[in-house]
Amino acid sequence: METVLILGATSDIAIAIAKKFASQKYNIQLAARKPEQLEAVQSDIKIRYGVDCSVHAFDALQYHTHNLFFEGLAPKPDITISIFGIMDEEEDAFNNWELTQRMINTNYTGAVSILNIAAKYYIGRKQGAIIGISSVAGDRGRASKLIYGSSKAAFNAYLAGLRNKCFKGNVHVMTVKPGFVYTRMTENMPLPKPLTSTTAQVADIVYGGFEKKKNVIYVKWFWRYIMLIIKNIPEFQFKKMKL
Ligand SMILES: NC(=O)c1ccc[n+]([C@@H]2O[C@H](COP(=O)([O-])OP(=O)(O)OC[C@H]3O[C@@H](n4cnc5c(N)ncnc54)[C@H](OP(=O)(O)O)[C@@H]3O)[C@@H](O)[C@H]2O)c1
Repeated sequence: METVLILGATSDIAIAIAKKFASQKYNIQLAARKPEQLEAVQSDIKIRYGVDCSVHAFDALQYHTHNLFFEGLAPKPDITISIFGIMDEEEDAFNNWELTQRMINTNYTGAVSILNIAAKYYIGRKQGAIIGISSVAGDRGRASKLIYGSSKAAFNAYLAGLRNKCFKGNVHVMTVKPGFVYTRMTENMPLPKPLTSTTAQVADIVYGGFEKKKNVIYVKWFWRYIMLIIKNIPEFQFKKMKL
């Protein structure tokens, strides 16, 4: 039975993805900075799906601990899924360097730190898969997602480069770009229902994309076309728009 490592496992999307993979008979390793919050999810996964499920302490910002964290996993995961991320109020972040830095360091630097380690291990054994949960917000920079969007754009570029680097090593890297999803992160936002996914829908689409070895997937599919339109608006017009 293969094992999936879920990084940022207290996230609503992460729990749905963990349950989806468990339902397909993968063992699960849940890693989060507050592992004590995962006891109920851990026993639910074990009882409901009859797979192994372990819980691990992991903080994306504690880069110096990442090697030891990955080394300590037994067994080593066959699939690593990076899900953690933060989205602070953009105006607060614009006015507070600490918030800006925390968003960049979590969404980009933290992800690069741990995924470099996982990728090296997978390339070494010529087998493995990495999935990164990014965002459509990374497809084009705009005022309302100034820092969050740019951190996800950097993450998208990293995942594309990693996919290229890992290809010869038989390691697959998939980029996931959700649009709106009903989670803790968006609970105070008025989300347009037709454009918004549930966490279960995200999990199904991620699992389907993984099985088909997709490179980049949008959740839901029509976001690819929405972002295509947005990406094609000429800059001289785009800079005047309120998006
Ligand atoms: N919701 C959306 O509409 C949407 C759209 C596009 C992309 N996404 C992306 O989807 C991913 C999951 O987000 P979500 O919507 O499920 O939101 P969420 O429930 O708020 O999850 C965010 C997760 O990131 C974790 N995290 C934050 N800083 C961390 C750190 N330093 N170390 C380890 N974990 C850390 C949080 O852990 P704690 O529980 O410890 O705070 C939490 O588990 C994020 O990458 C987000 O950018 C979400």
